[in-house]
Amino acid sequence: MSAPVGQQGSGSGSPAIDIRAVSKSYVRGQQTVPVLKDVSFHISPGEFVALMGPSGSGKSTLLNLIAGIDHVDAGTILVGDTDITTLNESALARWRSRSIGFIFQFYNLIPVLTALENVELPLLLTPLSARERREHATAALALVGLADRMDHRPSELSGGQQQRTAIARAIVTDPDILVADEPTGDLDRVSAGEILDLMAGLNKSLGKTIVMVTHDPRAAERAHLVRSLEKGLLIDSDPADQKDHADPALHP
Ligand SMILES: Nc1ncnc2c1ncn2[C@@H]1O[C@H](COP(=O)(O)OP(=O)(O)OP(=O)(O)O)[C@@H](O)[C@H]1O
Ligand SMILES: [Mg+2]
Repeated sequence: MSAPVGQQGSGSGSPAIDIRAVSKSYVRGQQTVPVLKDVSFHISPGEFVALMGPSGSGKSTLLNLIAGIDHVDAGTILVGDTDITTLNESALARWRSRSIGFIFQFYNLIPVLTALENVELPLLLTPLSARERREHATAALALVGLADRMDHRPSELSGGQQQRTAIARAIVTDPDILVADEPTGDLDRVSAGEILDLMAGLNKSLGKTIVMVTHDPRAAERAHLVRSLEKGLLIDSDPADQKDHADPALHP
């Protein structure tokens, strides 16, 4: 991590994500709630995937598994050569901080910190000096068009600007993969469009692989590939669209 985000390569090293026969249940008291049932799919390097489906169908659960925030009950998730389901907590945390940027519906910014300080946070886990941290965070904020709002606290930013700040925080460590859980869910149409433009740009110019959960058909339109979950099962929303992406190993 020698150069700030946006000044590095074009993401040619992005890994493929291979989700193989993943199942996940939650246990509550005596009750086991099955959430994902034998889900398999392949995400090619540099792809922009939208994940849709009704509320409760398991979208956020799948996203959290891909991001290494939660653990599978069965199956494997290969990211490049790394099977993240076999990593212990500290190895997983290291992998996550290097490889994944997470974007949330409600931004999850720290209210008492400025935009710049919020974006600097993930860099505290890296060996960068204070000066380098500032440099990288400044570059990330400039990249999302907030060079003139760095000293604002979240309450002094619009919703769209808060989401831009959150995107800057997600990309500041230059991860290969961005996962976004309803990133436009709390925004008006114009701001949502701007956030989607920004994400599409990060995908196209920097080669970031993006996995985005959304309920918004306009957001899904921006993706290369749309997959849908229903009651924990992955269904092909448009089989014709999936042809080029189908993995023969998974669909013999
Ligand atoms: N920590 C948990 N403990 C128990 N059950 C959970 C937990 N997290 C999620 N669930 C259950 O798992 C199911 C899937 O939840 P998930 O959050 O993945 O759905 P979703 O598709 O993201 O829905 P939404 O569109 O409303 O965000 C739901 O029935 C939910 O109640
Ligand atoms: Mg959800």
